[in-house]
Amino acid sequence: MAKKILLLNGPNLALLGTREPQIYGTTTLADIVAATRAAAEARGWTLDAFQSDVEGELVHAICQARGVYDGIVINPAAYTHTSVALHDAIKASGVPTVEVHISNVYAREGYRHESLTAPSCVGQICGFGPKGYLLALEALA
Ligand code: DQA
Repeated sequence: MAKKILLLNGPNLALLGTREPQIYGTTTLADIVAATRAAAEARGWTLDAFQSDVEGELVHAICQARGVYDGIVINPAAYTHTSVALHDAIKASGVPTVEVHISNVYAREGYRHESLTAPSCVGQICGFGPKGYLLALEALA
């Protein structure tokens, strides 16, 4: 079945490419969106992408996805570790959601070891760099 995918990226991810390259590499968010869209289109799927630094805008996008998208790929960035609102939105949307992290959050500071959002997702992929977004599509397939 042709799927409609929503790709969401959270705070500070617009700075990918120059942001802490020793952790996140030098791939830009535009590169990630283009590669993920190409992989989706190769499957005959469509992909819409949205980045926001604002928690409420991400909540809104997830709630609006209900009944519109067949899957969500989300890197909630720092909100992963703080946001009950994003957890609730993912649950409320009923849209199968895969959480992605570029870095291996479990090998980093203790405050990154807890994800409030992963329990409302079908699964989490972390530590594989930008390839994680492509793995998330594979998971949704
Ligand atoms: C991140 C990991 C988070 O802990 C961090 O706050 C980010 C990026 C990642 O992709 O590795 O902003 O989600």
